[in-house]
Amino acid sequence: MYTQTGRMASVKPSGTLRIAEIANKLKAEGRNIISFTVGEPDFNTPRHIIDAAHRAMLDGFTHYTPAAGIPELREAVANKSINENRLPATAANVMVSPTKQAIFSAILANVEGGNEVVISNPAWVSYEPAIAIAGGRAVEVPLTGDDFRMTPESVMEGVTPGTKMIILNSPSNPTGGVARLEDLKGIADIATDHDLLVLSDEIYEKLVFEGEHHSIASLPGMFERTITVNGLSKSYAMTGWRIGWAVAPEVILRDMIRIQEHSLTCCTSFAQKGAVAALTGDQSELRNMVSRFAQRRKLVMDKLSQIDGMHAKPPAGAFYLFPKFDYGMTSRQFTEYLLSEANVAVMPGSAFGSAGEGHVRMSFATSEANIETGFDAVAKAVSRL
Ligand SMILES: Cc1ncc(COP(=O)(O)O)c(C=O)c1O
Repeated sequence: MYTQTGRMASVKPSGTLRIAEIANKLKAEGRNIISFTVGEPDFNTPRHIIDAAHRAMLDGFTHYTPAAGIPELREAVANKSINENRLPATAANVMVSPTKQAIFSAILANVEGGNEVVISNPAWVSYEPAIAIAGGRAVEVPLTGDDFRMTPESVMEGVTPGTKMIILNSPSNPTGGVARLEDLKGIADIATDHDLLVLSDEIYEKLVFEGEHHSIASLPGMFERTITVNGLSKSYAMTGWRIGWAVAPEVILRDMIRIQEHSLTCCTSFAQKGAVAALTGDQSELRNMVSRFAQRRKLVMDKLSQIDGMHAKPPAGAFYLFPKFDYGMTSRQFTEYLLSEANVAVMPGSAFGSAGEGHVRMSFATSEANIETGFDAVAKAVSRL
């Protein structure tokens, strides 16, 4: 007979998937729903990346690879990490893994019964469940200001003798916030003083519109205690390829690779060849996609200014708008209102933590036409409130 384990009982279903399910049901009923829910670029993967993977398949590169990834991809990631992120990395510091899986392995390898992990509130939806599955406890700390800073002061509020790890995510999903160097320096001091690990999720690194991206592992003394995760999904329009990586000191990476050996085995062989082409080949399509996102960011801010009762600062990074609304509803009620009255799907802010209440997340990784029509429909629907 089935009895749920205590471990799984503590894992909540993803609030983001629930709304996508309702939206899909309405679509199946024939409603034309415009969706701002998805966290993936609507662009196709650049052709030269597809060609490299295709060639690899035709050449018979269709077998298992080493668990940590093919040497040339580990090398390419190490070079990227040295040149762009100023990390003292070699190929031996790299594990190729889907970013979400890399995060999961980092947490599973390092967090156990009773350990606490400091995360922001709001935060991306999958940190807390991974911590719970590992037997740890997420300690949420609030973000500061309308640019959603994770400050050293707020991190300190969450640090106790039971803290094992701090998770950072810049640029952030869902807020679009980009960490300031001064905040990272303060958080680095806390990690050093309290002997904590840092998991730095930098998957939106290429999407920075204001300020600059900094990797905390590049700060003095931080490489040895930081697991930096990144990947190709968002920047190269490669969500379905499932290629990302973790960069960490070998002693930390060893256990994460062991988890991968006994679970995923390895990333898809030919997808890894495509990833090498992405990192080492022509970057002009990446630049085009980033500039399209920058234009859409302007467009969503312009459209938002025409909606009464919704406010946001332009997001500094990622492709999410996280506006506050003042219609006297919960974010779930407002999301359901927009679905039924505007045929528009957005994410309730509360899906990302209690501090997301009063907000919705709107992804602008969708076409300009959808942004025009969808925001107009929202403006019309809220004018009736
Ligand atoms: C903040 C953040 N980290 C990690 C991931 C996982 O990325 P991937 O789908 O490439 O594993 C996502 C995807 O939405 C994300 O938003």
